[in-house]
This record gives sequence, structure tokens and C-alpha cells, in this order.
Amino acid sequence: MNKITIAIDGFSSTGKSTVAKQLAKHLGYIYVDSGAMYRAVTWFAMQNNIISKEHFYIDKLISNLHNITISFIFNDSLGFAEVYLNGKNIEKQIRTLEVSSFVSQIAEISEVRELLVKQQQKLGEKKGIVMDGRDIGTVVFPKAELKLFMTASPETRATRRFNELISRGDKVNFEEVLHNVQERDYIDSHREDSPLIKAEDAIEIDNSTLTLDQQFQKILQLVESKL
Ligand code: C5P
Repeated sequence: MNKITIAIDGFSSTGKSTVAKQLAKHLGYIYVDSGAMYRAVTWFAMQNNIISKEHFYIDKLISNLHNITISFIFNDSLGFAEVYLNGKNIEKQIRTLEVSSFVSQIAEISEVRELLVKQQQKLGEKKGIVMDGRDIGTVVFPKAELKLFMTASPETRATRRFNELISRGDKVNFEEVLHNVQERDYIDSHREDSPLIKAEDAIEIDNSTLTLDQQFQKILQLVESKL
């Protein structure tokens, strides 16, 4: 069957990765979480004293980009690929609120974006891919056959992220999660390089009131119309 490229963009915690994983599994496509790549660079920067609450040494990050190798390795029991930094599984480390609090500053750096966008485009060379992020339909795969733009109210999104962090055992409070979601959305949509915007030909899906299954069925119909 004809393989296509599916680009899913949207604000944080709009459920992009959930539906992307469902689609990839259903279609037998690769799923790539591009946010995990920005989080991996952030983790590298935190580990190498490049970024903290007190400082951000941008030049040091740029001159160290050649020391960063990001890969995805499929985990059969989880049913999706986990992210590795220089050969080490960092899937758990990159999902914390601390990484979330720095990642949008890292993602503003054009040199970082250039490096990651090239890798993302390479991963999608053969199509048959679902990738989610902020600039997938606009920059990474501007010719994607199907582009989705996911939205939901900030409170709905913060509640989802809060429950996710709590279920992993992180000690966070709702206010700080809501603040992080709103702050990242602001930085991501106001940055100079590849801001988060809806591609002209993207279909908007507001899932505030949809169940996961309703959302999946709705999107599957859109996919099937492109195959
Ligand atoms: O998708 P996730 O919330 O994990 O993404 C983390 C951050 O990575 C975003 O808030 C954004 O700053 C950055 N990002 C990006 N471009 C992408 C994917 C993520 O700038 N394609």
C-alpha cells in the first residue's frame, strides 16, 4: 500500500504523541517523537553544566553539538522506540519537569534546530512515518500528505501533564505544571526560528471533549482518505 508522511503539530500536552503512537502501530509506520530529541539535547546541556537556573552558555552548547548522538531503539514491551543519548537510554530522565523547564530555551537555538531537523528528515526519507512536534508540517515535512494541528484548552493540557508526572512518581504541583505548559507554549510560538504555527494545509483537531477512541477514529478516517 502507498505509504505517506503524517505530521502532527500542536501545543504541549495536546495528546500528539498518544495518537501518533496509535496511528504508527495501526499502520505499521515508524513513530518519531521529535520533542524527545530537543529534550535529549537539553539533558546533555544539563549534564555538562551548560544550562541551569543561573546560566545558559549558548556558545558552549553550539561548540558541543558534534558530541551529541541521538538514536531511537524500539522497545518491544513498551511498543514504541525509546530515546538514547550517546548510547545511553535516557527515556525516563528527559520526561521530568526540570527538563521541561529548560527545553524551550534550547529549542530556540537555530544551530540545534538545524541539526535535529536534518536528522528528522533523514528518518522520514522513505515515508511510512508519523512524527509529532512543533514544526513538522511547516519545516520538517512541508510536503507531508497529512498534517494535523492538535489543540485543547490550557487547563485540560496541564491536567493531562500533571497526571502523567504524578503517575510516574514525580513530586509536582498543578500550578507549576500549568505554568510550565503556558510558558513553553509562549516561547515555542514566539521564537524567531520555526515558531509553532498551524501550517496552512493542516487540519485542526480540538480534542478537549473527545475520548481517545473518538479522536483515533476521526484521525484514522483522515488518514484513510490519503492512502
Ligand atoms: O513534544 P514535547 O512537549 O516533548 O517537546 C518539548 C519541547 O521541545 C517543546 O516545548 C519545544 O520547545 C521543543 N520542540 C520543538 N520542535 C519540535 C518538537 C519539540 O521546538 N519539533
